Amino acid sequence: MNGISHTPQSNKPENRRIGVWLIGGYGIVASCTIIGALSLRRPSSATTGLITELPLFEGIPLLPWDTLLFGGMDIRRQSIGATLKELHTHARVLPCGIWDDFADELTEIERKIIPGIFSQQNDAVRSIMDPSFIFEGSLKECVSYIKQSLDDFKTRNRLDDVIVVNLSSTEPFVNIDSHLTSYDGIRQAIDSNIANPYPASVLYAWASIDAGYPYINFTPSQGAHLEGIQKLAMERKIPHAGNDGKTGETLLKSVLAPMFLRKNLEVLSWEGYNILGNTDGLILEDPKNKATKIRSKGRTLDAILGYSPHSKVTIDMVPSLSDWKIAWDFIHFNGFLNTPMTMQFIWNGCDSLLAAPLVLDLVRLVEFAHRKCEYGIQTQLSCFFKDPLGCQQLDFIRQYDMLENYVHHMKGS
Ligand SMILES: NC(=O)c1ccc[n+]([C@@H]2O[C@H](COP(=O)([O-])OP(=O)(O)OC[C@H]3O[C@@H](n4cnc5c(N)ncnc54)[C@H](O)[C@@H]3O)[C@@H](O)[C@H]2O)c1
Repeated sequence: MNGISHTPQSNKPENRRIGVWLIGGYGIVASCTIIGALSLRRPSSATTGLITELPLFEGIPLLPWDTLLFGGMDIRRQSIGATLKELHTHARVLPCGIWDDFADELTEIERKIIPGIFSQQNDAVRSIMDPSFIFEGSLKECVSYIKQSLDDFKTRNRLDDVIVVNLSSTEPFVNIDSHLTSYDGIRQAIDSNIANPYPASVLYAWASIDAGYPYINFTPSQGAHLEGIQKLAMERKIPHAGNDGKTGETLLKSVLAPMFLRKNLEVLSWEGYNILGNTDGLILEDPKNKATKIRSKGRTLDAILGYSPHSKVTIDMVPSLSDWKIAWDFIHFNGFLNTPMTMQFIWNGCDSLLAAPLVLDLVRLVEFAHRKCEYGIQTQLSCFFKDPLGCQQLDFIRQYDMLENYVHHMKGS
């Protein structure tokens, strides 16, 4: 579900000032996104991992990195510099002292990170949240607060646009009564200020889009998944994309499963065991939050293979791993004459440094879409997500082809 309206904004990207509003602004992915964007201002910076720096995008007027200005919301106070230093110490990544090189910029960004709203349903985050750093209010007040915060951020910083990115902790899945998920249902619920039935990610998505700002859901939380929010994006002519950044095990599944399909090898079982040691891992220790993540990871195999092999995804917290995430996958398959064979892989990735470049690419591509007056779900960005909204295609290469076709189309138009 997407569209295009016909009054393109003519500003040249290098003349624009774009705000990036990070929900979960003190988290580790947010911190790496911020330091990544600041580092990219240096001409000598490596652009490895950034899709939008590939030759494919030459000729597409994407934002230069120095046009981005960060702010956001969280439910706890942190120092971004301290988070980065800890990451360096425990995970042994990032150049030493990079947090000091950008100390002034980080302090300035921290001033722009304000209290977020809290999901009553999200018990797991109670252990990390700071009760004095949350906005408490009724449903209507929460929505107005998010909208007003975004408008203030835009006005005070003389921004041309603001892109909202949800990088907050995974929420438990909330079953919302069906009459409260439609466009009219959500509007009426807010207008009549009923007891809040929505998780925070839904309110962030609704408020951002209703206020006129593009929204990206990098998490598996519900976000803009509700039918009513998708309609709102069409009405308000706002682009959005999600859900759940595809950075590790699911990325590999979406590359390897098509190989088994095309080689006519029958997958009997595909077991995935993930261990990680960061705060995301801590939150995913709660079975309700873990279920949301496993659900988001779950679509890939069946959708690609067209059948359901035995498959289980396990996620466990191992604190000593810090930001390293290890996925061990065991694939049992039948070859010629039904001969059982196996394949195993081990993916050992630094979680946040896998995610941060995707966030930056998404900001650039969604801002570009908004400038080109495109709106609704940006399905050309499906290759970025584990559980892409509005897209049944989960094969990474085919999803990437969709992005390539879009870029070629944009170059030709
Ligand atoms: N790292 C990856 O490769 C990857 C891939 C896909 C998705 N994700 C998702 O990205 C999100 C962030 O991951 P992370 O590793 O940075 O986690 P993190 O725990 O370091 O950061 C999450 C931040 O969100 C804040 N938060 C929680 N509830 C909030 C609310 N209601 N409003 C505002 N802020 C809130 C937390 O205080 C924390 O600072 C998670 O949902 C994770 O599942 C990460």
